[in-house]
Amino acid sequence: MTQALDTIRREHESLAKVLTCLRHLAEALQEGSRKPDFEILYAILDYLEGFPDTYHHPKEEEFLFKALRRRRPAAAPLLDKLHEEHAEGVALAAELRAALEAYRRDPSASQRFSSAAEAYVDFERKHMEHEEREILPLAQEALTDEDWQEINAAFALNHDPIGEQMFGVAREKKFDALLATILEFTREPADPGTA
Ligand SMILES: [Fe+2]
Ligand SMILES: [Fe+2]
Repeated sequence: MTQALDTIRREHESLAKVLTCLRHLAEALQEGSRKPDFEILYAILDYLEGFPDTYHHPKEEEFLFKALRRRRPAAAPLLDKLHEEHAEGVALAAELRAALEAYRRDPSASQRFSSAAEAYVDFERKHMEHEEREILPLAQEALTDEDWQEINAAFALNHDPIGEQMFGVAREKKFDALLATILEFTREPADPGTA
């Protein structure tokens, strides 16, 4: 009954992969070991604004948090905090886009972009940990089958372009280069024992 929990964890995994990619790219740009690839950087921003900020967080609030507020009124302060974090994430993504625009216009603005990228990555990682540690176990314990039916149906309609592309479910050409870069940074190193 709780497939929405699997969906949320899977969505966190694809967001985590994009965050890892963003951090590596920002570090490489700072070190001068890589030239900026604006197609990939803009694809990251499009993903962040088009998936977590448009589907994932709003669905958490509208369905998961709402059901938890009903079943566990004592969790209200924690849910209020997570609600604030969603708004803060949107503001950090807006700053990241502004920093990227500035960097594209003027290469000397690379430091602003790297700092905004680092702030976004750290913030979203902590936010996901916060949910996985506190909210998902509580939801599993407190919600009823009826609650889950509604939450599952809502999350089933999410559209995660990176997750779908990673698992070969759907493909959006504009994310091809981003996915290749994600794989470059997140591929498991080959086991020397099997080489
Ligand atoms: Fe969230
Ligand atoms: Fe989440």
